[in-house]
Formats: sequence, C-alpha cells, structure tokens
Amino acid sequence: MALNLNMDFTIIDDLAEALILLLPAMVANATPVVVKGRKPIDGGRLFIDGRRLLGDGKTWEGAAGGLAAGVLVALILDFIMPSKGLLVLGSAAALGAIIGDIAGSFIKRRIGLERGAPAPLLDQLDFYVGALVMTALLGVRWDLVVVVEAGLTVALLHVASNIVAYLAGLKKVPW
Ligand code: CTP
Ligand code: MG
Repeated sequence: MALNLNMDFTIIDDLAEALILLLPAMVANATPVVVKGRKPIDGGRLFIDGRRLLGDGKTWEGAAGGLAAGVLVALILDFIMPSKGLLVLGSAAALGAIIGDIAGSFIKRRIGLERGAPAPLLDQLDFYVGALVMTALLGVRWDLVVVVEAGLTVALLHVASNIVAYLAGLKKVPW
C-alpha cells in the first residue's frame, strides 16, 4: 500500500490513517505486558463495594512504560510524516489508551470480575475507546465507519497478540 503523504490526521476518514494514528496507542497498550510492574496504581485500596479499585494488573510501571513506548512511537511517526501533528496526536492516543485500559479494569472490578478474568470486548476495546476519546478531545474527527473498521482490526490484533504473549509465557491466560 502506497502511503498517501497528504494524510490529514485531524479528520480520520480512512483505515490506513486510523491505524497510523492508533499505532502509538496499540504499542502503549501492549508494552505493560512485557514491563510487568509491581506497584499497583490503586495502592491496594478497595472501592466502596469492598472490591479492589483497579487490582494488581494495573501498575505504575506498566502505565509509565506504556506511555513512554507510545510517545516514542509517536515521535518516530512524526519523524516519518512531519508537520502533521502526529507527535501530539499519537501521544494523546497513547495516553488515552493507558487511561482507557485502567477504566476497563475499574469496570471489571465493579462487575465482580477478578484481575485477569476475561471480559470480551471490554478487554480488547477499552484502550481503543480511550484513544478515540483522547484524540477527539484534541479535535480529531473520527469517521464512524472507520471507527468500526479500526475497532475490528484492533480487536483481532489484540486477540492474536495475546495468544502470542501467552505462548511466549508473558501472560498467564491467552486473553
Ligand atoms: N500491566 C501493568 N500495568 C498496567 C497495565 C498492564 O503492569 N497499567 C501488566 C500486568 O502485569 C497485567 C498485564 O500487563 O497483568 C496484562 O494487562 P491486562 O490484560 O490489561 O491486565 P489483567 O491482568 O488482565 O487485569 P484486568 O482484569 O484488570 O484487566
Ligand atoms: Mg486482561
């Protein structure tokens, strides 16, 4: 596929553009699995329902490592395709991904799912929704059809990469 260098990342209306902008978010989401932190973001605290606020699967090291890796990818993209705002927008997508993943765990704990328990769709798409919202807050306009196409792509990649991470011994469960 020839890269259309006239891409405008403030209006995302094709899948290639979407995936380029989402790359920092995908890397940000995948990195914590390798980093494996120790310090839980919730500090072990419980919510009013008596369950963990987030759980041991969300750590400061994972969040910081994911964000750093995402920003690095945004930096590289900005170098390849300069002056398109990819550093800022890609970094925002990465930050949104980390926050979305944390929000996903908050929701899982509230519905009584233990850390690592599968929550289909939520597990695959929490970071994606976070990336969409964060970039939208910076003025990116996402075409609805592209949101669905990219969502399917992201979900499939997520499932595939988790199976690989499981086989490589990085994850205890293949989801
Ligand atoms: N991880 C981390 N810090 C984060 C996010 C992830 O350290 N902010 C690491 C944890 O070791 C986590 C692994 O990456 O177990 C996989 O992430 P994820 O699937 O999101 O966490 P789960 O363990 O499945 O926990 P949850 O049920 O809360 O999603
Ligand atoms: Mg999980």
